[in-house]
Amino acid sequence: MNTKAEEIKQQLNQFCVETSAHLEEFRLQFLSKKSDLQQLLGEIKNVVPELRKEFGQEVNELKQYAQQLFDAHKNRMEEAVVPYISEIDATRPSTLYSSGAMHPVSIVMNEVCEIFEKIGFSTVSGSDIEDDWHVFSALNFPQEHPARDMQDTFFVNMNPEFLLRTHTSSLQVRTMESCPPPIRVICPGRVYRNETITARSHCIFHQVEGLYIARKVSFADMKQVLLFFAKEMFGQETKIRLRPSYFPFTEPSAEMDIECKICGGKGCNVCKYSGWVEILGCGMVDPNVLDNCGINSKEYCGYAFGLGIERMAMLKYKINDIRLFFENDVRFLEQFAK
Ligand code: DAH
Repeated sequence: MNTKAEEIKQQLNQFCVETSAHLEEFRLQFLSKKSDLQQLLGEIKNVVPELRKEFGQEVNELKQYAQQLFDAHKNRMEEAVVPYISEIDATRPSTLYSSGAMHPVSIVMNEVCEIFEKIGFSTVSGSDIEDDWHVFSALNFPQEHPARDMQDTFFVNMNPEFLLRTHTSSLQVRTMESCPPPIRVICPGRVYRNETITARSHCIFHQVEGLYIARKVSFADMKQVLLFFAKEMFGQETKIRLRPSYFPFTEPSAEMDIECKICGGKGCNVCKYSGWVEILGCGMVDPNVLDNCGINSKEYCGYAFGLGIERMAMLKYKINDIRLFFENDVRFLEQFAK
């Protein structure tokens, strides 16, 4: 075979056709009037008579080969394209898939954590299944405290030493047991209580616990941090008030209210006509709790607080039934898609 024809054959074999644009390039390179192959055909007449026959045969075979290859590529392309064209109308507007969105509980939980992270708190988490020590005993709950009762706590059937945590305060204990002060943490998580399900209470809900332990921490420090939080969460004009309360693990203890966002403090059925809504429990960590967790209560002190996420979300989004958070009705959840 003459060298030019050989070169063209090699190019033909190496040419890769994957799209219709490639097919057109193939046609231009090998089959068009200006192609090398066509020029070679034109040269047949100039070849000396004794070699002309052989040369002509070779070049014609090459031309046929190029045409066969082209047809094969073309068929292959058409086979691939035909079902595509018949089944899919590329001009039709595309289907709009609605993408998932964050659950309102997660939105509010993240928001709460971000506010505290801004002022130096770090986030810790832990398991939902806990033992009596971390949920009750270390937190100074007396043996006969009603919260330990089967009425309030879900115990694990196989081993009633274990239970579903009734509050994230158990993470206070775990943090103090494992980290030396100063401690500045928030602990978000799901909690469980054996309560009747109503519009205002559920057997599952979410809390964020906060803990600050250092030297010479005062009640005023706690109040300022909680005021900062309330303003960041509910707006700069938000007012708070602290009422004395009781928790086994804090002394003194308080509950914090914010001025009702629904009626602006005038009184409505959400705030039970008081103008105020409770959002969290707080207090100075009881020295017994510090000692239980291996922290010297003569040297260190601190404050703790715990807030309910569903309560916060209900106030923020004006939702009047806690059950909506757990029914997973997409019509409800879609409202929180950004
Ligand atoms: N653990 C309490 C509850 O579940 C909330 C709470 C109140 C947490 C006061 C605290 C606190 O850390 O100081 O109701």
